[in-house]
Amino acid sequence: MSRPKISVIGAGNVGASAALKLAEIEIGDIVLVDIVEGMPQGKALDLMEMCPVSGCDVNITGTNGYEETEGSDIVIITSGIPRKPGMSRDDLLSTNTKIVKQVTGEVAKRSPNSILILVTNPLDAMVYVAHKVSGFSRERIMGMAGVLDSARFRTFIAMELGISVENINAFVLGGHGDDMVPLARYTTVSGVPITELMPKERVDALIQRTRDGGAEIVKLLKTGSAFYAPAASAVEMVEAILKDKKKILPCCVLANGEYGIKDTFVGLPVKLGRGGVEEILQIKLTDDETKALHLSASHVRELCQRIHDLGEL
Ligand code: NAI
Ligand code: 2OP
Repeated sequence: MSRPKISVIGAGNVGASAALKLAEIEIGDIVLVDIVEGMPQGKALDLMEMCPVSGCDVNITGTNGYEETEGSDIVIITSGIPRKPGMSRDDLLSTNTKIVKQVTGEVAKRSPNSILILVTNPLDAMVYVAHKVSGFSRERIMGMAGVLDSARFRTFIAMELGISVENINAFVLGGHGDDMVPLARYTTVSGVPITELMPKERVDALIQRTRDGGAEIVKLLKTGSAFYAPAASAVEMVEAILKDKKKILPCCVLANGEYGIKDTFVGLPVKLGRGGVEEILQIKLTDDETKALHLSASHVRELCQRIHDLGEL
């Protein structure tokens, strides 16, 4: 029996870190693709040479083409430019739309039955682009953002309360932007909502830090954006799918009426299993939470409209 094949497009910071983590959990063979000559090959060989030390039996191939990606089970798309200090994720729209269009076309042709996980920003709009280009059904196309944003929220709560991150569950829905929707009511420490464990001002402060979480790291790094937590988040999604875990994670998916949102890619709680997005969970939201989610979704729609206005779709 052959191992699952996972292709990672874009072998930069997020792509290479994802490949490293995928190799370590021995979930399948990995193909690393990038346009920079020699770079994916070099990183793949370096990772192969890590395997005897880390004890992982997987093949990792680096390439500048797509032949090696043929028949992939899952494709993670990270290719594109990251933001620099002062830039918003939306400033990446025009350049990354072109890249995601080209890459998705290559991937979908060779792996028509694969599941696509988009990482490139602006995330929700890039999932829309990949959906349009690939024509894949909504079960097989999704974006990584909610896992990362929720992980940031969990980290800040753990730091605030001095409690293990493992005890903290958090839900951040909506688009991957300043108007993301962290749900404090559904964010718990061993089952206890954080709203019962800290005053409202502290909850609000941690929510704001979560919204600014990407920018906080861009400001520190100066040359690019976060990659370790984003890579780990994408790999959590891959693992949930390939191991058919039926794990509930916030992912960017196509809403078709759920939460009153239609024809829009936005972050919602989903059940991930071998079929990809197996279900979109409908949890009860307050009027304010619903309003915030709708606002975030309308921002995604505006971005998608800008892509059409640019003549890219
Ligand atoms: P990076 O610059 O380190 O890597 C991007 C790679 O894409 C580069 O190696 C580049 O050569 C490659 N690339 C560009 N055009 C390509 C093409 N046509 N075909 C194949 N490869 C191509 O950037 P990094 O830090 O890895 O971030 C990648 C993307 O992911 C950015 O758009 C960033 O904003 C986004 N991101 C999204 C997150 C999320 O939560 N959704 C979190 C972190 C990053
Ligand atoms: C982040 O939130 C860049 O979107 C990326 O770190």
